[in-house]
Formats: sequence, structure tokens, C-alpha cells
Amino acid sequence: MTSASAWSVALLGMDGQMVEVEAAIGGGLPRTIMVGLPDTALYEARDRCRAAVAGVGLSWPSQLVTINLTPAALPKAGSHFDIAIVSAVLAASNVVPRDLLPTTAMFGELGLDGRTRVARGVLPAVLAARERGFHRVIVAAQQVREAHLVEGLTIWGVRDLADLVEVLNGRPVMLDPDPEPDAAPRTMPGGDLADVAGQPTARWALEVAAAGGHHLYLHGPPGVGKTMLAERLPGILPDLTPDQALEVSAIHSLAGIDLSAGLVSRPPYSDPHHNVSMAGLVGGGPRMAKPGAISLAHRGVLFLDEAPEFGPRLIEALRTPLERGAVTIGRADRHTTFPARFQLVLAANPCPCGRAGTPGLVCECPPMAVRRYRDRLSGPILDRIDLQVSMAPVRKAYLRHAATGDSSAQVGARVRQARERQRARLRDTPWSINAEVPGAHLRSALPLPEGIDLLDAALVRGQISSRGADKCLRIAWTLADLAGRDRPGRDDVRTALMLRRGDWAGAA
Ligand SMILES: Nc1ncnc2c1ncn2[C@@H]1O[C@H](COP(=O)(O)OP(=O)(O)OP(=O)(O)O)[C@@H](O)[C@H]1O
Ligand SMILES: [Mg+2]
Ligand SMILES: [Zn+2]
Repeated sequence: MTSASAWSVALLGMDGQMVEVEAAIGGGLPRTIMVGLPDTALYEARDRCRAAVAGVGLSWPSQLVTINLTPAALPKAGSHFDIAIVSAVLAASNVVPRDLLPTTAMFGELGLDGRTRVARGVLPAVLAARERGFHRVIVAAQQVREAHLVEGLTIWGVRDLADLVEVLNGRPVMLDPDPEPDAAPRTMPGGDLADVAGQPTARWALEVAAAGGHHLYLHGPPGVGKTMLAERLPGILPDLTPDQALEVSAIHSLAGIDLSAGLVSRPPYSDPHHNVSMAGLVGGGPRMAKPGAISLAHRGVLFLDEAPEFGPRLIEALRTPLERGAVTIGRADRHTTFPARFQLVLAANPCPCGRAGTPGLVCECPPMAVRRYRDRLSGPILDRIDLQVSMAPVRKAYLRHAATGDSSAQVGARVRQARERQRARLRDTPWSINAEVPGAHLRSALPLPEGIDLLDAALVRGQISSRGADKCLRIAWTLADLAGRDRPGRDDVRTALMLRRGDWAGAA
């Protein structure tokens, strides 16, 4: 009986664990059995691996082949164990040497024809391998660039099983060492803020939201520029830090998004349609769970256009992630957690016909329908929104002649400065933006603004909840940061209250 081991990575959400793939040959009737495999996809792996080996003219051992993946207790979803399985079997039958196997992590699926296929999660898998001290990684040739995003490792790409045999014989295949990225450079959604005519209040609320990381609700009749504004939010947010870029890219890798254009270095934008499935929104799916729209918006913007159309189940599902900055997808045998710290932007019409509350327009909706429509954004979710802006139509003539406001570059520069002030003030805390600061810290560790009595009065009158009062404090700080003031004044508190309650009817 001979045996050999190769290494791969099991992914549980973002977390990679090394898996030893051991192949033992001999000691029984010719057949292949797999041990330690709770996931049915791995049985398909056995058949793919045998077909692929035959496909390159090698033979699968005609003895008992026992393939054992350890640790056995670890759920091993996914189809990327193939090249490690084949390597262990070929080494155990002395077709390839074993020297490289103990220090090489392998991550790739094989087609029946022996060609390697793209696998989800290469980036987090390679990160895990580096953390566990592996020196070398073998991946599908198409994913070499993605694997190279993790520095300090030797990456070998294999196009097929023949390449794998060459590599394991110490003859790495010379693929173009640094091929030009075939993907077009990533583009931001939307265009420049300068394209948005009028709407000074909404533009300004967008700037405040960007500066402090606040959630924003835009409402108004169709065609006033709600979608236009939301799309322009990522463009005025600061670049991701290197750590954030790696984390966001790892999530995108798990979702199967092509990373050959490099790390995601700008805040992402995710705008699921209202008929998205629950799994599409929060993550999930069969076998290896996929991050959903809320995780693809991690460290960026989640935009729900026509928010009341999303329905109560989907809206409700946002509550916990909004609080924890992460989402846990439960399945019978395992739980997967993905980060989901996003800035939420909701857009809605005031009623199903879109005309309610707009001067000069007549709403045709039955009152009950209007109530039902508004109730769909349940109180609890609206209470988690920081800023509300009601937008009125811009007249056509105005659209043509309106002086253009500041460009995204100008607004972005102010946002960066405001963020700098926050970082400096919060430097000894775990937080870096106003939206993250817990109420207790706001009220006891930071100086209280003048005009705090305005918040007390609003609380007493029931105009805001106590969560709302904390939100007003955070917004007041952001207003002060944007204005370059050391602490909020009475006007900042008053403005924060208005922004919070959205009573700007007709403003702009
Ligand atoms: N303030 C504006 N400045 C320039 N163009 C605008 C403005 N508002 C609307 N438009 C024009 O109208 C189009 C529709 O705007 P947008 O989709 O942002 O509206 P909306 O408020 O999201 O409407 P709906 O409620 O129908 O989704 C834009 O593509 C743009 O051409
Ligand atoms: Mg729209
Ligand atoms: Zn209406």
C-alpha cells in the first residue's frame, strides 16, 4: 500500500481552512472511495478526476483507491478540491514526485476533458494558504492574476492536467509571466455629480451622507433624479484602505466576480432589483454559500431603488446586518458569515402613482393604497435611516439653465477632509466615522453640542425616537466636520433634526 498527501483549502464564508487530501492505493478490490466528505459535490469530484486522468492518457490505479479529506468534521463544499485529489492519487501511484506537495496549496476544478475551470474564492483561499505558511499555490491558469493579488507566494497556473503533471515534476509551465489584464478597467456606476441639475438639498444631503457614512432615504415623484444621485454616491466616497480592498476583493472572489483587473480599491455599489431572491439579497444558495447583494456592498453602497416594492421579508432581512455589519446564513449543518457593512440608500415615490405631495400634481391613489405603500418600509427600517430628503421636480427650463453644482471631485475632496477630522477625533477608539460611533460614546465621551435642548424637546414631543436622537447627534457632528468646526453648534443640531425627519417638503 502506498500513499501521498496534497493540500487544498475549505472555505467557510471568508474563512479558509487547510484540508489535507490523502490518497492511499492498494489493499482491496479496484474501486475508489472517498472519506470525510459531507458534500455530494465531492463524489462528483471523484468521477471528474478519473475522467480527467484518462483524458490525458494516464491511468487511474486499478486497485483500491481511498481518498481521505481531513479534518473530517470540516464541511467541505465546492468543487475546487479536484487538482489536489488528482495530485495525491498520481503521487501515490508514483506518476509524479511528492517533493512539492507538502508546501503547495492547490485550488481548482477539473472538467471531464482535463482542463481546469475557474473556481470561486481563489483570493480568500490563497490568503488562508499564506497564513498557514504555504509557499506555493497552484490554480487554474485563468486565475493566476487573482492569486497574485496576495503577495509573497509563488503562483503556478495550470491550463489542464498535463500542465499539472509538468508542474509537479518541477517544470512549471511558462505562461505569459504578466499578461495584460483582459478585463476592462473597472468603471464606477453613474456619472459625475455635476450632471445633476438643481436639487441642492438632495445633493447636499448626499455629501453629508458620504462624509459621515449615514444611511439616506430619497423620496419624490418619478424622474426627479433619485437614481441619478444614488449612483453618484460611491464616486464621492474615499478610496478603500489596503486592508479593506483585500477584504472587499475576497468577497467579490467568493461571488465569482472576475478580479483580473486587480483589487477592488473603490467603494463598491450594489443595486439589487426588487424581485431579487432572498439568497440573492443576503447570500446563500446550494453548496458553497455565495455572498448576496448586501455583502457585495460591503464598505460601499447598497441602493434599493423603488424600496417599497421590495416587500416586507426582504426589508426585514436587512435589519440585523444593518446592526451587526455582517450576515449569517444558516443551513441545517452549517452557518456561514459574510461581512455586510454597507451604506444604505433607499429611493421611493411618495405613493404608487408617484404624485402625492407634489405641488401642482394630483394623486390618483386611494388613501388606503398610499398608506399600504408607505407602510411597506416598516417603521423599524426607517428608524435606522439617518437622513431623509424629499425631492421636488426640477422644471424643464430650469434643467436646461441650472448652474451646475460642484463636481464629484470637488465634493469628494470635502468628504475626505471631513473624514480626516473624524479619524483624528476618534483615533483612540475602534471607530473611524461618525455613523459607527455608539450612542453612549456620543453622549458621554464627546463634548455635547450647544442646542442639545432642541433634541430633548423633539424627544418629548415624540418627533424622534431615542435612536433618532443619537442619529441627530451623529449628523450634527458630520455637519461640523464638513464645515471645519471643532464641535457642532445649535444650527448643526437644528439642521440635523430637519435632515433626520425629512421635513423639507418642497425644498430645493
Ligand atoms: N436633477 C436632474 N438633473 C439632470 N437630469 C435629471 C434630473 N432629474 C432627472 N433627470 C433626468 O431624468 C432621468 C431620470 O432620472 P432618475 O432616474 O434619477 O429619476 P428618479 O427620481 O429615480 O425617477 P423614478 O422614480 O422614476 O425612478 C435621468 O436619467 C436624467 O436624464
Ligand atoms: Mg429611479
Ligand atoms: Zn398617488
